[in-house]
Amino acid sequence: MTKPRMLTGDRPTGKLHLGHWVGTLKNRVRYQHQYQSFFIVADLHMLTTKNRPEDIRESAQNGHDMVLDSIAAGIDPSVVTFYLQSAVHEINEIYTLLQNLTTVSRLERIPSLKDMARNANIEMPFGLLGYPVLQAADILCVRANIVPVGKDNESHVEVTRELARRFNGIYGEVFPVPELIQGEVPTLVGTDGQAKMSKSLGNAIFLSDTPREVERKVSSMYTDPNRIRADVPGTVEGNPVFIYHDAFNPNRAEVEDLKDRYRLGTVGDVEVKRKLTIAINGLLDPMRERRAQYDQPGVVEELLWNGTQVVREESKQTLQAMHQAMGFTGVWNRIRRKAEK
Ligand code: TRP
Repeated sequence: MTKPRMLTGDRPTGKLHLGHWVGTLKNRVRYQHQYQSFFIVADLHMLTTKNRPEDIRESAQNGHDMVLDSIAAGIDPSVVTFYLQSAVHEINEIYTLLQNLTTVSRLERIPSLKDMARNANIEMPFGLLGYPVLQAADILCVRANIVPVGKDNESHVEVTRELARRFNGIYGEVFPVPELIQGEVPTLVGTDGQAKMSKSLGNAIFLSDTPREVERKVSSMYTDPNRIRADVPGTVEGNPVFIYHDAFNPNRAEVEDLKDRYRLGTVGDVEVKRKLTIAINGLLDPMRERRAQYDQPGVVEELLWNGTQVVREESKQTLQAMHQAMGFTGVWNRIRRKAEK
């Protein structure tokens, strides 16, 4: 019996942080055995906003760190397939074939793309407009059934679903329509209280931070700005330290006790933060151990190389099925096969 499939991944732009953990990593770990799992290092997607030579040079280290972070977080490299997007040429071909099944105005309505252009301080590149279609090619090239992603990517998975349905409707059944798996906390606030934890905003706690770094970041966290002393009643709702306690502290009784006392003005920020530091380091300690185990020269590269070959084979089959369904048969097939020699 073949298992249903999961596909997800990230752009190689930096290390993974707690926002990734609650947004998608936890789901990846949860489903990795139940599904045949694929994780993409989406370097072509990175180019849509970062394409300077130095960005590309850094992406090798970033991709390496990302894979290592995933393994540290509990992804089992002996069962999942990691692969490099730009090494699977068929993804580009699938991307091209999908481009005619959606419209410019559909893509222009996606807010996350406008946000990405704005954050990068650039006018919308052609490639960025096509971002969700390229993402659909990633997902459909392995004919994935589920896609666990954070909030920013939800609308892209919706485009994938539309494209799969449209392809199937026009040419015949080739693709499963993949299901979106939403994160436990789809968007995690930053340590500074801004809506979103992100490396570029400098408000992230990374999975690879040391215990001291975690302590430092938590101690300087934004809390209730109206609470000037520990004996003043404070607000728990929307308060980042309590959002984090809810997300990362498994000791529910401790969290409830801290909330009660915070509301009454009988606990100081220092204690709330000290307990949060302990909780986060409790989550990250086993990750630190696993990272050390796999952080050996060549290990990540070998994983990516093996996985890339697997996905190339899968993608070739998908592309062939698409061509077949679309009616590229007979003479077209013969010419294409000759050209590939
Ligand atoms: N868009 C994802 C990000 O924000 C990366 C990505 C590329 C992806 N292709 C994917 C995620 C396919 C899930 C499925 O970094």
